[in-house]
Amino acid sequence: MFIMGSLSCYSIILMSIIMLHSCFAIEVNYDSKALIINGERRLIFSGAIHYPRSTVEMWPDLIQKAKDGGLDAIETYIFWDRHEPVQRQYNFSGNLDFVKFFKLIQEAGLYAIMRIGPYACAEWNYGGFPLWLHNIPGIELRTDNQVYKNEMQIFTTKVVNVAKEANLFASQGGPILLAQIENEYGDIMWNYKDAGKVYVKWCAQMALAQNIGVPWIMCQQPDAP
Ligand SMILES: *[C@@H]1O[C@H](CO)[C@@H](O)[C@H](O)[C@H]1NC(C)=O
Repeated sequence: MFIMGSLSCYSIILMSIIMLHSCFAIEVNYDSKALIINGERRLIFSGAIHYPRSTVEMWPDLIQKAKDGGLDAIETYIFWDRHEPVQRQYNFSGNLDFVKFFKLIQEAGLYAIMRIGPYACAEWNYGGFPLWLHNIPGIELRTDNQVYKNEMQIFTTKVVNVAKEANLFASQGGPILLAQIENEYGDIMWNYKDAGKVYVKWCAQMALAQNIGVPWIMCQQPDAP
């Protein structure tokens, strides 16, 4: 009786440890060679699934197919025009529910990369910028312009907070290994002259200040700040 009792007690403790472990934070780092996940250099193969391009019902199957195809991670842009169609009126429901999307990715045993931008490419209208943004007096997009930077920071912070509240970052036990700020800016930066250099540094500082506990990346950005 005594042995039985302590055995089941032992297995309950063991089970709690295993259950706790699945909520444990993952440490994401990098060096000049690779991403380092929990101390181990890893080469991550990711593929894009843009959640608003399909229905919620399609997500599990699409994610499973990506996994069956050998991917380690799913990456997606976050589409500003869909999430904030009217200034300060947000929508994270239906097929804009990225919390659900990232949780399905984690349930499938994959990692995720969140490309906030908020400028996106992906053959998406106007790079995902909402039209109201274009129409704000004095705005100049993707450069050292206070009106633009203010809106970009508000949206980025909103997205990060939604993700944090749902514990989506790997530092919180979630699937997101990396987050991206701006997008392929290096290709057009020369166009903005010195203001472009100032802007991309500001992007980096603004992103780091979000304190997400996983690295931020840029894309097509030689010597990313
Ligand atoms: C939010 O987005 C979903 C998915 O696109 C859509 O079905 C719904 O109507 C939107 N909600 C509002 C209030 O616009």
